[in-house]
Amino acid sequence: MLKVRKVVIPVAGLGTRVLPASKAIPKEMMPVVDKPVIQYVVEEAVAAGIKEIILVTRTGKSAIEDHFDTHYELEAELARKNKTALLAAIQHIVPPDVSIVSIRQPEAKGLGHAVYCAASMIDDEPFVVILPDVLVNNEFDKSNDLARMISEFEGKGAAQIMVGEVPDDKVHLYGIADCDGIVPEFGQSAAIKGLIEKPSQDVAPSNLAVIGRYVLPGRMMSLLADGKPGAGGEIQLTDAIDALLTEQSVEAYKMMGATYDCGEKLGYLKANIAYGLQHSETAGGLKEFIKALAIAHE
Ligand code: G1P
Repeated sequence: MLKVRKVVIPVAGLGTRVLPASKAIPKEMMPVVDKPVIQYVVEEAVAAGIKEIILVTRTGKSAIEDHFDTHYELEAELARKNKTALLAAIQHIVPPDVSIVSIRQPEAKGLGHAVYCAASMIDDEPFVVILPDVLVNNEFDKSNDLARMISEFEGKGAAQIMVGEVPDDKVHLYGIADCDGIVPEFGQSAAIKGLIEKPSQDVAPSNLAVIGRYVLPGRMMSLLADGKPGAGGEIQLTDAIDALLTEQSVEAYKMMGATYDCGEKLGYLKANIAYGLQHSETAGGLKEFIKALAIAHE
């Protein structure tokens, strides 16, 4: 079994759910406390052992590539002023043995199409897909869900799709997994029988929603090459995974961490609070502020 070394991160979305904030800056560059959202997901991938990061991007998104590039002028200035902590923070965002490349998605034809744009860089290797809107925070379980998914894949050869339970009235917003009535334990996987993109509540086979982390075999790219428009008229990753299911086993991995959808306003605010409570510079002051606010609103 080949090792999982690559991640595809589609960053070509227009960010309409967070306008006007995302009009002139990519939504992936919006900060959560002191780092842009994209940095959290890249760090998550690196912590899970990924060595090659493939960004699928579009016009107007070059700030993302710049963020991971060297900024000589800023580095020289920080060095001159002896600001060593800040210098370290901007200098080594990814370790030297990890590479970041980007490729364009020329047309907005859906998530499946965006992932397929990276096909020539995958070259039949297994790969991870991370949806960068979604932050996965493993603060409380002290684990790394993505690393666990990769080790399941490398051990069993079954594709791994991260899922979490959502309320009935939210199933229409997600890809939903049919696990034949089984709900995996936290941190465990169960076989998937079918996957359906954004079903209405009455036909949804379960509450197990696809959260935005996938570990997939290289074969996925050939299935995406044949992708036809599905839900919303877009080429859906979910549909191609449903096709993969007819050939090989695919499993739903139930996440242990908390998840924040930074592609919408409430999720973005919650992420800032959750990560603000974890950050040494802001934790104390933020906790006091939240307590005082809660008392004032009683
Ligand atoms: C995408 C996927 C969906 C998944 C969701 C997670 O949908 O198509 O299967 O459940 O991300 O956030 P989107 O939210 O981009 O419409």
